[in-house]
Amino acid sequence: MALRNPAAIGCSTARQLAERARLASCAKVAVYRPFFICGTVTVLTAGCLLGALALWGLAMQGSYLASAWTPYVLAHANSQLYGWVGFFVMGFSLQHHAPTVAKLKLYHGLAWCSLALMGLGILMRFLAEPLAREADPTWVAVGVLSACFQAVAVVLFVTNTTFTRYRPTEADGSSLLVVAGERPKLKRAAWQTSFVFLSLFFFVVVSLAEPFVFALSHRADRLANIQFVAEWFAPLREAQFLGFVAPMVFGVGLSKFSECMDFENPSKALGLAGLAFWIAGLLCRIQGWIHYFRSGMEPGSGTVYFLGGVLLCLGAVFVVASSGVWRPSTFRSGAQLALRSQKFIRAAMVWLLVAGAMMVAEPFVLGLLSQPFSHAYIGAVRHAVTVGFISQMIIGFSARIVPNILGLEDRAMPRLWPTFILLNAGNAARVVLEVATDFTPNAFVPMGVTGFVELIGLALWGGHILSLLLRNGRVSEVAHAK
Ligand code: HEM
Ligand code: HEM
Repeated sequence: MALRNPAAIGCSTARQLAERARLASCAKVAVYRPFFICGTVTVLTAGCLLGALALWGLAMQGSYLASAWTPYVLAHANSQLYGWVGFFVMGFSLQHHAPTVAKLKLYHGLAWCSLALMGLGILMRFLAEPLAREADPTWVAVGVLSACFQAVAVVLFVTNTTFTRYRPTEADGSSLLVVAGERPKLKRAAWQTSFVFLSLFFFVVVSLAEPFVFALSHRADRLANIQFVAEWFAPLREAQFLGFVAPMVFGVGLSKFSECMDFENPSKALGLAGLAFWIAGLLCRIQGWIHYFRSGMEPGSGTVYFLGGVLLCLGAVFVVASSGVWRPSTFRSGAQLALRSQKFIRAAMVWLLVAGAMMVAEPFVLGLLSQPFSHAYIGAVRHAVTVGFISQMIIGFSARIVPNILGLEDRAMPRLWPTFILLNAGNAARVVLEVATDFTPNAFVPMGVTGFVELIGLALWGGHILSLLLRNGRVSEVAHAK
C-alpha cells in the first residue's frame, strides 16, 4: 500500500496536526531540519551580516566601485543564493518529495552529500574571494573547487528528487479501492509545476556555470576580469534570481498558498499568462543586456533589455493577480487569528510589484541621470527582489510549515511583528536611499545603517525558528511503502 506522507509539506487542520504529532514520535530525523538550520545560520552570518557590513563600508566610502569590499560583496551574493535560498529550496523539496521505503537510504545519503558539499562550497568561497583577489593560483583553485562542490551539490540534489521520490497516484488519499495487481495511474502534474521545472533548469545551469565564472573573473589580467564582470554579471544575476529563485517561489507559492496559508485557490489562466510573460521578459533581459553591452550602450541599443523589464513586470502582475493572496482568508485550518505568515506573503507580493515597477522606470531614471547604466539603481531593484520578495517568502513559509510539521498550532506562536516591521522598513529605506545616492551623496550614510535594521529583524525571526528547529524528539518523516 502507498501511504500518504504525513510530513510532506502541506498544511493541516487541528485533527491532522494531532495525527502528525502522534506519527512524529515513531519517525526518523526529518530531512528539512538540517537544511533549514544551515540556511538560517548562513543568512545571519555570511549572508546578511556580511551584507550589512559591506553596505556600511560602501556608504562610508561613498561609492559602489573599485572597493576593498568587492570580494565580500561577491561572497555575500554567493552565500545568499546557494546558502540562504539554496538550503531552503533543497530542504523544502526533499521533505515535500518524500522517498519510497526502498530508496530511503539512498535519499538520505544523497541529501547529506548535497548539504555537506554546499556548506563546504560556501565556506571555501568566502575565503577564496578575498584571497584570490591578486590571482594567487592556490586561492583561485580553491575558488574554482568551491564552485565545483556547489555544482555537484545541486546535481546530486536534483538526481535525488528525480530518482527517489514517491510518485503520487490518483488513488492516494482517496477511498477508492485499488484493484489487485493493477497499478494505479500516476497523478498528473499540476500546472504550477511548470514554474518549478523552469526554476530547476536555471538552478542547474547557473550552478554548472559557477566554476567558469569564478575562473574568468579571477585572472591575472585585471582588465580582462573587469570586462568579464561588466559583460556577464548582469545576465548571470538575472538567471540566478529571476530564472532560478523567483519561478521557484511562484511555483511553490501558487501550489501551496491555498492549502497552507488559507488563501483562495490560484487562477490557472492568470498564472500561466504570468509564466509566459516572465519567460519572455527573462530572455529579453538576458539577451538584451548582452546586445546593449556589446553595442557600447549606445542610445537605442538597450531597447530589448528595457523591454525585458516591462515583460517581467507584466509577469509579476499576472502572478500576483493569480495568487489569491488578496481575497479574504477562509480560515480553512480552523485558526481564529489570521495566520502569522499571511502578512509576510502579502508584503512579499507588494515588493515583487515594486521591483517590477522599478524595472519599467529604469530607462526614465537613467534618462534623468544622463547615464546608460546605474549600479545603485540595479542594486536597489535587486534588493527589492531578494530581501523584499524572496527573503520575506522564505520567512513566511518557514513560519508556517516548521510549527506545522512539529504539530504546533499557529495561534500559539509569536506573531513576528518586530521582524515584519524592521525588515520592511529597513528594506524600504535601503531601496529608496540607494536610488537617492545617484542624485545626492548625502544619501550614502543613512543608507549604510539600513542593513543593520534588516539584520535585527532577521535575527529575531532566526532565533525563533532555530529554537523550533533545534527542539528534541519532535520530528516527522515517513517514507512511502513503495
Ligand atoms: C540585510 C540584507 C542585505 C544587505 C545589507 C545586503 C547588502 C549588499 C550590498 C552592500 C551589496 C553591494 C552593493 C549593491 O549591489 O547594492 C549587495 C549586493 C548583492 N546582494 Fe545583497 N544584501 C542583503 C540581502 C541580500 C539577499 C537576501 C540576497 C539574495 C537572496 C542578496 C543578494 C545580493 C546580490 C546577488 C548582490 C550583487 C553582487 C554583485 O554582483 O555585485 N542580498 N548586497
Ligand atoms: C529536483 C527535481 C524535482 C523533480 C523531478 C520534481 C518533480 C515533480 C513532479 C513530477 C510533480 C508533480 C506531482 C508529483 O508527481 O509529485 C511535482 C510537484 C511539485 N513539486 Fe517537484 N520536483 C522536483 C523538485 C522540486 C523542488 C526543488 C520543489 C520546491 C522547492 C518542488 C516543489 C513541488 C511542488 C510544490 C509541487 C506541486 C504540488 C504538489 O504536488 O504537492 N519540486 N514535482
